Amino acid sequence: MKRLNSQLQQDGAQLELILLIRTLLAACKEISFRVSQGALAGVLGSTLSENVQGETQKKLDVISNQIIKDTLCESGYVKAMSSEEEEHVVPCDPDGKYLVSFDPLDGSSNTEINSLIGTIFSIFHAPQWMEPGDPSAFVQPGTQMVAAAYVLYGPSTMLAMTTGRGTHLYTLDKTHGGFLLTQANIQLPQQTAEYAINASNQRHWDTPMQRYVSELVAGKEGPRKKDYNMRWVAAMVGDIHRVLCRGGIFMYPADKRNPEQTGKLRLLYEANPMAFLIEQAGGKASTGERRIMEVVPTDIHQRVPVIMGSSEEVDYCLSCYEETKA
Ligand code: AHG
Ligand code: MN
Ligand code: MN
Repeated sequence: MKRLNSQLQQDGAQLELILLIRTLLAACKEISFRVSQGALAGVLGSTLSENVQGETQKKLDVISNQIIKDTLCESGYVKAMSSEEEEHVVPCDPDGKYLVSFDPLDGSSNTEINSLIGTIFSIFHAPQWMEPGDPSAFVQPGTQMVAAAYVLYGPSTMLAMTTGRGTHLYTLDKTHGGFLLTQANIQLPQQTAEYAINASNQRHWDTPMQRYVSELVAGKEGPRKKDYNMRWVAAMVGDIHRVLCRGGIFMYPADKRNPEQTGKLRLLYEANPMAFLIEQAGGKASTGERRIMEVVPTDIHQRVPVIMGSSEEVDYCLSCYEETKA
């Protein structure tokens, strides 16, 4: 089976980018090991602290963040990084060529129930003019990403990665410690009968999302004239993995509870990298108003509404937004 290195070379990735990706994945393998040890390693449960997002941090949020931060800072490839768990940009090596944004542990409430969790990251070129602690270089649109990936800590540890030449799936071979290519050039089916949304928030959604989901729920008897199935992992990394494997639509819309906060998911750490992976697999990713990867962030912790997955289903959902505007 092909190794990650060969696939990255075949896709034209520069040597320094390959080395950075390998460094990041070394950190993810360490997280994978800690996660698999669970209660035996004393890594489960919450801390007494909150992160900048106002969420109580799990021990694994803090441990994973520290592992990635230490590994990247020592590598020499990274000028600065931003993390969901860090209030400010973390300066690293002034000569580093890359910027990394990451969600060290996605779906961390799932640690309590031994269910799916993962790490999500994206890589940008670091502008030469940039001082390592300067946040302004992070506010580039997702179209500037040079790579995006997630590592899913499930029954197998899997990696989905793109450098802009397709999305490939790898599986961690724990016997020799490498990621081996298990599915190249994933192509999402354009149509689907499976959707993912936290339906308990329904009363707070905007009007187009209310209408769209009510049509899915109506099934064969409704305007879509087919039955849909619903899944919700409560970890975006798990839901997007399912969508990459067999198609579907994943949504986390804005809701009316907090008009200041446009959705729950974070552009830099969740929406952008997943949008790149989905688009490279032939899918679509939108906020309801524009392509996610074209959003120019104003803040490193910015949140956006997310609608992504099989292209025809995303288009239908977006048509509900268009009709409301008209
Ligand atoms: P995180 O654990 O990094 O804070 O992210 C959790 C996110 C995302 O992964 C998931 O889709 C969503 O929150 C789940 O939200 P609900 O609490 O609404 O299920
Ligand atoms: Mn997350
Ligand atoms: Mn997280």
